[in-house]
Amino acid sequence: MSGFVLAIDQGTTSSRAIVFDAERRIVGVGQREFTQLFPQDGWVEHDPEEIWESVVWSVKTALAQAGIGAGQVAALGITNQRETTLVWERATGKPIHNAIVWQDRRTSRRCAELKAAGHEATITRKTGLLLDPYFAGTKLEWLLDNVDSARERAQGGDLVFGTVDTFLIWRLTGGKAHATDATNAARTLLFDIAKNQWDAELLQLFGVPEQMLPEVKDCAADFGATDPAMFGAAIPILGVAGDQHAATIGQACFEPGMLKSTYGTGCFAVLNTGTDLCRSENRLLTTIAYRLDGVTTYALEGSIFVAGAAVQWIRDGLKLVQHASETGPLAAQADPGQHVYMVPAFVGLGAPWWDADARGAIYGLTRNTGPAEIARAALESVSYQTRDLLEAMRKDWRGGGDTVLRVDGGMVASDWAMQFLADILDAPVDRPVILETTALGAAWLAGSRAGVWPGMAEFAASWARDHRFEPQMDAAVREQKVRGWDAAVRRTLTQ
Ligand code: G3P
Repeated sequence: MSGFVLAIDQGTTSSRAIVFDAERRIVGVGQREFTQLFPQDGWVEHDPEEIWESVVWSVKTALAQAGIGAGQVAALGITNQRETTLVWERATGKPIHNAIVWQDRRTSRRCAELKAAGHEATITRKTGLLLDPYFAGTKLEWLLDNVDSARERAQGGDLVFGTVDTFLIWRLTGGKAHATDATNAARTLLFDIAKNQWDAELLQLFGVPEQMLPEVKDCAADFGATDPAMFGAAIPILGVAGDQHAATIGQACFEPGMLKSTYGTGCFAVLNTGTDLCRSENRLLTTIAYRLDGVTTYALEGSIFVAGAAVQWIRDGLKLVQHASETGPLAAQADPGQHVYMVPAFVGLGAPWWDADARGAIYGLTRNTGPAEIARAALESVSYQTRDLLEAMRKDWRGGGDTVLRVDGGMVASDWAMQFLADILDAPVDRPVILETTALGAAWLAGSRAGVWPGMAEFAASWARDHRFEPQMDAAVREQKVRGWDAAVRRTLTQ
């Protein structure tokens, strides 16, 4: 069998498909952005049909670029923006509403209510998560409560729920498979991560009928095959993981203590804690890193909602640069004497603050502040937020594991940003040769399951570093900067 493996990476702002060859080289890419819908303050939606079309287009483009037919692809791996919530009709596959995106804050009042009623401790004990609108549970509840007769139809078995992976599996298999993997299930507020099953008490709390839930499988498993009519031949779907989990795999963070951070729309730091279901005392999430052969590997996760999105705002909102890649060079020109801090709480603050109602702020402006200082503050905010996460990890788990951070995602192309990150963390930062770690992780799940790619040890040994950024900043300067950041965040919090 050929060693070609296809990965679909359905992200927050674009869908991508990548064809890897047997040596894990990229031989075909298709990528398409889609519309971000903001119907109200704090609401974020995606049109599921636009997502679907962008995925199909990306797959066809990637196959064409690779010069291969679907029949030559040994396996397909799917990775996706997590928590984004969809409900569709079992009979037609037609969604009953736009997808409610992970960044959406419409259920913040409901979360506060549930918290006040004392539900957070149980939820955290079972799911490893916190009561925040970020997760799928209250979004699903909102759909059932707000779309005409949705709850009755769900109770009657007409409607099904899924995160984006599940929706894609459903569509790709022509409605034959209703499945998800353990990592995506772990982000719903409905899944007990210790027992590895949907939790009846939580389903009752959110009024979710069990029959609308997908079957939960290992990350490398048989998820069905694509409808042969779609791409010309059936492709077996053999790997599925949420994007941050796929990136953890693609970065080969297989040993307890290994740590990665991905800088996409948001930033997500994941620390492998092995079979140890480590409970955070510092407002981090406990989650499933991956589940393979029935064995669950757990992780501590720090989730920041705005990272690359801050650079996007510099480009599209403020129009300070034309291309995101100009942000680093612009930041490098900033006046070192100015202490400008940006707290990019555009959609509230994630870990470790979890303040859904906070909104962004910039502090320390003077008459001399210009585009360079604002660009620097935006890039620096990502490093400060990463530091907050790593500090919490250090407190929660054996000193935080490795002090080396493996990074990936669009922003890591900026040497300036990565050097500042190493300086602020006071720890080395490793940038890998292959930056497509998310797609690579999904492809590895599928390719190894198909038997055309190597197993874990050989795959991990092939991870290669492009560059290590060593901390160079004077300790006193670092402390002063971190104190300034801390004061800025505290002024931004609403609670
Ligand atoms: O939890 C949300 C996350 O999965 C989205 O990732 O890469 O689209 O920012 P990304």
